[in-house]
Amino acid sequence: MKKYKNIVILTGAGISAESGLATFRASNGLWNNHKVDDVATIEGFARNPKYVHDFYNELKVELKKAKPNAAHLAITKLQNEYPAEINIITQNVDTLHEKAKNKNVYHIHGQINQAVCLNCGHVVETFGNVGVHTICPKCNEIGRMKPNIVFFGENLLCMDKVEYLLRKCDLFLSIGTSGVVFPAASFVQTAKYYGADTYEFNLENTSNNFFFDKHIVGPAGTTLPAFVSEMLKD
Ligand code: OAD
Repeated sequence: MKKYKNIVILTGAGISAESGLATFRASNGLWNNHKVDDVATIEGFARNPKYVHDFYNELKVELKKAKPNAAHLAITKLQNEYPAEINIITQNVDTLHEKAKNKNVYHIHGQINQAVCLNCGHVVETFGNVGVHTICPKCNEIGRMKPNIVFFGENLLCMDKVEYLLRKCDLFLSIGTSGVVFPAASFVQTAKYYGADTYEFNLENTSNNFFFDKHIVGPAGTTLPAFVSEMLKD
């Protein structure tokens, strides 16, 4: 296999599926029979913040218990043993990359264990409940904390850094994402245009994308460790 110097790994809900977490677009999807408009849009939050807080407080309990699987641990191995800069851009709000001790993780869709103050932008780390009466520890405003999840209608996080990483990478791996939510779905295009080799790891060939050189089909908990072993040979 070719030697690479700058690797970007984009992850989606599929990498966490083998940790027992539902993906978004599966029939038992992560929104759990709630309407996307109610729990994943900024308008929904403005309409009924208590409902949204309750939803994420409940999800937090489940995500706090989840453990990383063989795919997350394969990334740990790659980061520890392969001589390249390796950055992870994740759409996942779970913290399984961190639990697997993955480094350089950029959460473009936010994190379940954070809340952000809409008054001053202060971010609080907590797996505890956050609600409409929570006080911002920085500006002391009451009821302005929002789960630090990027809702439809909001800007993604860390995009300057992400753009920079996509342009300089020579290998781009996309793992467990359906590639239907933009802009993450177009990251492969940027990486490809700037010269990277591009691989997709998914249960199925998503074939909604012209920019992958290779599709590796199967559960990431099996395909990714095998791929990492190949990369670490010789
Ligand atoms: P999706 O639910 O859209 O897609 C999950 C993908 O993972 C599908 O293509 C599955 O085929 C694949 N998959 C499932 N199990 C797998 C496994 N064991 N190994 C490999 N692949 C597997 O989830 P995302 O693409 O992450 O945004 O969704 C993108 C965004 O949509 C989410 O981040 C969320 C939502 O809007 C926010 O919440 C802001």
